[in-house]
Amino acid sequence: MTDAVKNVAILGSTGSIGRNALEVIAAASGKYRVLALSAHRNTTLAIEQACRFRPRWLVATDSEAVASTDWSQLPPETQLLSDADSAAQVAAHADVDVVVAAIVGSAGLRSTWAAVAAGKTVALANKETLVVAGPLVMELARTSGATILPVDSEHSAVLQVLQAGRRDEVRRIVLTASGGPFRDHPPEALADVTVEEALAHPTWQMGAKITIDSATMMNKALEIVEARWLFDLTADQIDVVVHPQSIVHSMVEFVDGSVVAQLGSPDMRLPIQYALSYPRRSAGVADRVDWRRRMSLEFAPPDLKRFPALDLGWEVARTGGTTGAVLSAANEAAVAAFLDRNIGFCDIVPLVRQALDRHDFDPHPELEQLVELDRWARLEVSRCTAC
Ligand SMILES: NC(=O)c1ccc[n+]([C@@H]2O[C@H](COP(=O)([O-])OP(=O)(O)OC[C@H]3O[C@@H](n4cnc5c(N)ncnc54)[C@H](OP(=O)(O)O)[C@@H]3O)[C@@H](O)[C@H]2O)c1
Repeated sequence: MTDAVKNVAILGSTGSIGRNALEVIAAASGKYRVLALSAHRNTTLAIEQACRFRPRWLVATDSEAVASTDWSQLPPETQLLSDADSAAQVAAHADVDVVVAAIVGSAGLRSTWAAVAAGKTVALANKETLVVAGPLVMELARTSGATILPVDSEHSAVLQVLQAGRRDEVRRIVLTASGGPFRDHPPEALADVTVEEALAHPTWQMGAKITIDSATMMNKALEIVEARWLFDLTADQIDVVVHPQSIVHSMVEFVDGSVVAQLGSPDMRLPIQYALSYPRRSAGVADRVDWRRRMSLEFAPPDLKRFPALDLGWEVARTGGTTGAVLSAANEAAVAAFLDRNIGFCDIVPLVRQALDRHDFDPHPELEQLVELDRWARLEVSRCTAC
C-alpha cells in the first residue's frame, strides 16, 4: 500500500524555515505536493519558488512589494493572492492537508489560528502563536481535531522522546540552548555588542529576529512558554541547560531518574521533515552526526544574571493570561528597534520587562484582546525608545 501524497501549504516560504521546508519536500520523491506558498517582501524569491514547485496559490502580503513586482514570470497555474486574509484562507482550504506555519512573529497568528480552526495538521515553526495565545490555541485544536507538531528542534526532540514513556511518568523536560554568540562574553561588554555580532550565531543559520532572540536568550524564554502549552507542563517542569554543540536537542527526565535525549546535527531540515512525515520517519536530506569524529558534548546551567530574559520565560509560563502576548510583542518591537540601531543590545530585555509591568493583566483573555494588547505593547516599546 502506498501513502497518499500530502498537500502542503508553506506560509513564510521565503524565510529560513520555509526554504528548508522546500528542500525537504524537493528531496522527498513526490510524497508532498506544494499547494501554496506565501511571502511578504521577497517576491523575487517567491516567484522563483513558484516556478519550481508550481503551487495553486502564491500569497504575497506586503502591498508595496506586490505593486512593484513584475508578476509575468508566475506560472499560469499559480494564482496570486494578496488580500490581508489570503494566508488564513489558504491555510483553512479543504484541499490542504498540512500547513507549515513559518511566518515570523505575531504576523503568523491569524493564519496559524485558521489552520488550527480548520482541523489541519500544523507543522508549527511560529512559536509566537503559542506564546501569545497558547491556552486558546490548544483548546481550539482539541475541538477542531487539529494536530500541532512542533518544528522548533527542542520541542520536536521532546515530542520524539516522550514516546519513551507514559505521560504520567514524566518528571520534567530539559530544553537545550546553544547559549548564542555571547555565551562566554564578559557581561560588562554586552552593552557594546553590535548588530553584526549579535547576528553571528555560532551553530544555527536562522532569520534575523530569532537570531537576536538567541543572542539575548529570549528565544529560550519563548520556548519555555511554548513547551508549557504544547505539552501541558507546569513552569517548574521545564528546565534549560546550555549545550554549545547543539547536538542534543532536548531531553525528558522520567520519574525513575532516566533521562532520554534526542540527538542530531544542528540542521532544521530534520525537525521539519519529522513534522511533515509524522508519525513515520523517512530518509532525508538532513546532515548526519559524524560519530567517527572525536567530539565533546558539554552541558552547563544558564547564567541568569547575564541572560535575564530567561526568567521572563518562567514567569510568563507560570502567570499565563495576557503576559505571553505582551512578552512576544514587546520583544518583537524591541528586537526591531535594535536591528534598526535605535537601541542597544542590553535595552531589549528591560523594555520587555517594563511592558509586562505596565500592562493591564487579565488571566482569561479572548483572542481579540490579545491582538489589541499586541498593538499596545508595540506602541509602548516605541514610546519608550523615543524617550
Ligand atoms: N530559522 C530557524 O532555524 C527557526 C528555528 C525554530 C523556530 N523558528 C521560528 O520559525 C519562524 C520563522 O523563522 P525564520 O527564521 O524562518 O524567519 P525569517 O527567515 O525571517 O522568515 C520569515 C518569513 O515570514 C515572512 N514574513 C515576515 N513578515 C511578515 C508579515 N508581516 N506577514 C506575512 N509574512 C511575513 C517572510 O517573508 P519575506 O521574507 O518574503 O519578507 C518570511 O517568509 C519564527 O517564528 C521562528 O521563531 C525558526
